[in-house]
Amino acid sequence: MRRKLAAGNWKMNGLAANLAEVTALVAAHPTPGCEVLICPPATLLAQMNWQKGKHPLAIGGQDCHAKAAGAHTGDISAAMLADAGARFVILGHSERRADHGETNTEVRAKALAARSAGLTAVICVGETEAERDAGTTLAVIGAQLAASVPEGATGADTVVAYEPVWAIGTGRTPTLAQIAEVHGFLRAELAARFGAEGNAFRLLYGGSVKPSNATEIFALADVDGALVGGASLKAADFGAIIAALEAA
Ligand code: 13P
Repeated sequence: MRRKLAAGNWKMNGLAANLAEVTALVAAHPTPGCEVLICPPATLLAQMNWQKGKHPLAIGGQDCHAKAAGAHTGDISAAMLADAGARFVILGHSERRADHGETNTEVRAKALAARSAGLTAVICVGETEAERDAGTTLAVIGAQLAASVPEGATGADTVVAYEPVWAIGTGRTPTLAQIAEVHGFLRAELAARFGAEGNAFRLLYGGSVKPSNATEIFALADVDGALVGGASLKAADFGAIIAALEAA
């Protein structure tokens, strides 16, 4: 059985004052019926770790360097994230692929670093609108998956998030049939590569998930949760998405 996962990606949003949203979320969902993860900016990780031992809320980073330490000004290692209380790290988000030119090879190296530090990597894949229009969605995603997920990955150390680039922050989502097609494809690819372990990887959908569409998305086969951007910033919205996942 795969444990359902509601993951929030705060991106470059959140100051200390916004921790009140986490306090409200935790108060409203003291014993969630699914795993709940928030990936705040790294500056807030240590402050969010105050729930450790008191609430099952997991926290995570949004990126890490592939090296454990060294002369890499401005970067953060997986060990540093773990030291600050993180249990997860998002890797290969399309915004990092676009803004920082991250390649599948780099994402794979970062995933290995995350594994070494004991973090679970949330590896993101997804097509652009042009790629979908050109009919190359599955080919693009298959190539990203094959090259970004390292050998020896397991359902315990790796989560895969399908985030169509054109659905991120736009209010647009794929049809349910399109989400189901990609998630079924991801499951089949993981099973082909990792055998029975392929069924253990959690598959998240991300891109304009909100309270009003969460229930129908979570009803799909092979959707084990969501990676939520904008709607994860507000306790009420993220709480409603958590409730939809608990009910799925
Ligand atoms: P939105 O939920 O704001 O569309 O962002 C999705 C995302 O990129 C999560 O990683």
